[in-house]
Amino acid sequence: MRLSFLVLLPVSAAKITPTGSTILLNEIAYYISPHSIGNIALEEHVLDGIESAFGFSPVSVLAQETRPDDLVSVFSTWNATDDVFQPGFAQLILNETQSLGTSTTQEVEIFTQNPSTVVGYVTKSKVPKGPYLLDKETGNLHQAYRLYDDFAGAFTEALLDNNDGTFQVLSAKVVGSATLTIGVPSRLYYEPSKEKPLAGVRIAVKDIFSLAGVKQSNGNRAWYHLYPPNNVTGTAISRLVEAGAVIVGTQKLSQFATSEVATVDWVDYHSPFNPRGDGYQDPSSSSSGAGASVASYRWLDAAVGTDTGGSIRSPAGVNGVFGNRASHGIVSLDHVMPLSEPLDTVGFLVRDPALWDKLQAVMYESNYTSLASSQPKYPTDIMTVTYPNSNTEAGALLNEFAAALAKFVGGSVTTLDVANRWTSAETNSHAGLNFTETFNITYPVLTGKGQDDAVVKPFFADYAKHYDGRQPFINPSPLARWAWAANYSWDEALQNKTIFAGWFNSQILPPVDDPLQCSSSLVLYAGKTGTQSPRNRYDIALPMPFTGFSAARMSVFSGCPDFIYPLGEVSRFSNLTNHDENLPVAVGILAAKGCDGLLARLAIDLVDEGILKVPEVGGSIDGSPILF
Ligand SMILES: *[C@@H]1O[C@H](CO)[C@@H](O)[C@H](O)[C@H]1NC(C)=O
Ligand SMILES: *[C@@H]1O[C@H](CO)[C@@H](O)[C@H](O)[C@H]1NC(C)=O
Ligand SMILES: *[C@@H]1O[C@H](CO)[C@@H](O)[C@H](O)[C@H]1NC(C)=O
Ligand SMILES: *[C@@H]1O[C@H](CO)[C@@H](O)[C@H](O)[C@H]1NC(C)=O
Ligand SMILES: *[C@@H]1O[C@H](CO)[C@@H](O)[C@H](O)[C@H]1NC(C)=O
Ligand SMILES: *[C@@H]1O[C@H](CO)[C@@H](O)[C@H](O)[C@H]1NC(C)=O
Ligand SMILES: *[C@@H]1O[C@H](CO)[C@@H](O)[C@H](O)[C@H]1NC(C)=O
Ligand SMILES: *[C@@H]1O[C@H](CO)[C@@H](O)[C@H](O)[C@H]1NC(C)=O
Ligand SMILES: *[C@@H]1O[C@H](CO)[C@@H](O)[C@H](O)[C@H]1NC(C)=O
Repeated sequence: MRLSFLVLLPVSAAKITPTGSTILLNEIAYYISPHSIGNIALEEHVLDGIESAFGFSPVSVLAQETRPDDLVSVFSTWNATDDVFQPGFAQLILNETQSLGTSTTQEVEIFTQNPSTVVGYVTKSKVPKGPYLLDKETGNLHQAYRLYDDFAGAFTEALLDNNDGTFQVLSAKVVGSATLTIGVPSRLYYEPSKEKPLAGVRIAVKDIFSLAGVKQSNGNRAWYHLYPPNNVTGTAISRLVEAGAVIVGTQKLSQFATSEVATVDWVDYHSPFNPRGDGYQDPSSSSSGAGASVASYRWLDAAVGTDTGGSIRSPAGVNGVFGNRASHGIVSLDHVMPLSEPLDTVGFLVRDPALWDKLQAVMYESNYTSLASSQPKYPTDIMTVTYPNSNTEAGALLNEFAAALAKFVGGSVTTLDVANRWTSAETNSHAGLNFTETFNITYPVLTGKGQDDAVVKPFFADYAKHYDGRQPFINPSPLARWAWAANYSWDEALQNKTIFAGWFNSQILPPVDDPLQCSSSLVLYAGKTGTQSPRNRYDIALPMPFTGFSAARMSVFSGCPDFIYPLGEVSRFSNLTNHDENLPVAVGILAAKGCDGLLARLAIDLVDEGILKVPEVGGSIDGSPILF
């Protein structure tokens, strides 16, 4: 439409910023990115009669040098492997050519329902293959995003990656019950390369990482509303983005990354839904959105979480996916909200161990040795800590795994009693310290006080300044743990932690000099045993400090890597569905500090051996439907 009269207005009267649009193509919802990927010219009249919605028409761009004979197989591969492409994009097929005069327009039959037209185009841009929305008037090509409902309630914000280091909110909504809509770009646009090993990998990020252009919540509403959008993306996430990963949104966590029980503790935001079993089990915390989403959505490849005392391992375990607590210090935690700096780590929740290795190689750079293309010499010494016997279904799975692992590495299984080994004066200069007493409150002191200076004090001061001296609302769990820790000594707790690390990393799980072996032993413990924890419980204790020592604390104090592998499931009678339901069982596996790559490669090998399985999304790790 052309305006015949110009009305002159002050320049400041209307600032219009496009935020993308949505369409339905054959009843499937797509988002049209506001960013154009390139401009093309077509022969006149080829767009006549091509359907469009507010000026946009679905088209497909061919890879260079696609031959006419290959069209049927190319499109059937696209349709089978990419969740964004669909036959509706094949009505008009664009083939790059040197000049328009020489190109030919041909009708072809690819998908029987709708004939396709192949036309030549010229461009100065480099346009990757795949489905696009073509602006008929300007010739601009816009990327197509498939839209999905976040039915697990896992996300805090849906994001559009602007591909310039910044992000904006994805302005799209599909049908859903009080949920967000997440958009993912076509996988066809991306070719992994040496420079961009994660090209097109779809990743979600726990909402404690700063992303440029995005507001952060830390799981707290007052925080979200008080502060402006972040203006920087930290080291860990920047490395993923630079390697080609696509960040699709931020995800829920229990408040300030302290553990919370669903549903009672989750006052500010509703806890995400664990898809496994009866669909009403606690997704655990604090990387709750990460675990629930990776177990629910095939369209999401991985989620980034943090683990201070189990915040990746526990959600990975109960949601039935892989998850790693990384070696402490392996990557900078700049622009990540701290819980306890000496204990905080960044890691991933994933289904596919091969991708897991690639993600770690990118994020941890030179602090990670990928063994994906070498032949590891696995340690033959397997030790179990507080491992159950085989009298229960979960115990049987854990023991079968230990035996299968020992057979695979050609080793044997022994038991390790950490507290007992501590008392040996020959190997421990601190053996005189009572183990139980020394490590009873180390963790709750380090976490309860760890946010004081970096998070709590400045937040309370900023809030008070803004709201006439008021205090912000804090969920019961972080509030109780901060208050409990207030009267204990940080320095003493840090000293105890440091003593443990020195002993454990030299006497119990030392590294070995050979990078193909890396670790002297592998240590196993029961990650999760399929215990029910329905989210409609009222009968839970008030939030308490996490005192005492457990197998899951070994890596926390020593800084060694601690990976969760899903092993299988056990059947439990659910009194919510009046039916038996499957719940995941997981092993925790430790190697010496710095041996993260060994544990990722081991997961790949154990999948190849049939000892582990790649978990499916769904109501069970075999992929059954999710119950609602
Ligand atoms: C695309 O165009 C090139 C020449 O510009 C031609 O060789 C090729 O066959 C065309 N491909 C299709 C599928 O039409
Ligand atoms: C395209 O893929 C969809 C989803 O995988 C499938 O249901 C459909 O049958 C395929 N269509 C054609 C024409 O191959
Ligand atoms: C980025 O944000 C921080 C914290 O709000 C602020 O101190 C800083 O000035 C900002 N930097 C820029 C370049 O806007
Ligand atoms: C490797 O770890 C060290 C120690 O934590 C850290 O200082 C360094 O920045 C890390 N290197 C990379 C490439 O992240
Ligand atoms: C360590 O302290 C605990 C609790 O105070 C006590 O029960 C235990 O007997 C002590 N252990 C030793 C070896 O003294
Ligand atoms: C551990 O600490 C808690 C909380 O202070 C205390 O109640 C408990 O008795 C302690 N246990 C041991 C074995 O010292
Ligand atoms: C540290 O260890 C000492 C010695 O066993 C113990 O008395 C103290 O309670 C511990 N403190 C913390 C904070 O871990
Ligand atoms: C901490 O110590 C102060 C003063 O010593 C006391 O008033 C307060 O009740 C103590 N708090 C806790 C949680 O024990
Ligand atoms: C359902 O089972 C839980 C234990 O998983 C139990 O605490 C609760 O009382 C049971 N509820 C009913 C109504 O039986």
